[in-house]
Amino acid sequence: MKEFDPIAYKRMVKSYQDDDDPTGWFDSIYTDAEGNYRDVFWADLTPNPYLLEWLEKHASEPRGGNAIVIGCGVGDDAEAISAAGYEVTAFDISPEAIRLCKNRYPNTKVNYLIADLFDYPLQWAESYDLVYECNTIQVLPGKYRIKARDSMISLLAPEGYILVSCRSRMKGEQEDDIPLPLDKQEIDGFIRCGLSEESFLAYNDTQLPSVPHFFAVYKR
Ligand SMILES: C[S@@+](CC[C@H](N)C(=O)[O-])C[C@H]1O[C@@H](n2cnc3c(N)ncnc32)[C@H](O)[C@@H]1O
Repeated sequence: MKEFDPIAYKRMVKSYQDDDDPTGWFDSIYTDAEGNYRDVFWADLTPNPYLLEWLEKHASEPRGGNAIVIGCGVGDDAEAISAAGYEVTAFDISPEAIRLCKNRYPNTKVNYLIADLFDYPLQWAESYDLVYECNTIQVLPGKYRIKARDSMISLLAPEGYILVSCRSRMKGEQEDDIPLPLDKQEIDGFIRCGLSEESFLAYNDTQLPSVPHFFAVYKR
């Protein structure tokens, strides 16, 4: 495993972003883990507790439905959604991330796939009752964040939900950060695109020092 160097990491990501190749580096984070999913530095290795809370509240709904997990990483959230009764497709642009998921969960019911949010299979459009994204918009730059939001919305079936979990910041602050947290105006883009806000939580996580986050739920 390569030791994680935050300064070198940010420099590397910025160089891809400056070359307008915003997704060209993701696979390297997974290959650096040399086959051990525990060594992927951004993986929490446990499902997002706010996702679990939402799934618990929605467990009584009559149909589980189809769910899709964007940028699924090493799979903890996809497995939790599957355990809650959804038919889950989970994809990542990194082939190595998908390989790690398949090795980690050999008996999974989740359909893990290599795919690009910006060029997903046509038959996915408007097909999912639950679209889940955690920490993917924030690792993209500029126009790709808007493209990612629009692409996520295009996956939603009528009356479907989008759950967005991300780092947050105050408008005008941390503007050069990598990852770049979302501010309220940016995340409200889901509302400007015609979705209704079902719930919105701003909270500080349990890291030291703690990092502000949003967990938002929108409905078509
Ligand atoms: C910061 S990681 C978060 C991973 C996971 N969701 C988690 O919370 O641990 C962002 C993920 O999005 C994936 N990703 C980035 N751009 C993507 C795209 N255009 N299509 C699919 N996956 C993408 C990356 O490969 C990476 O696994």
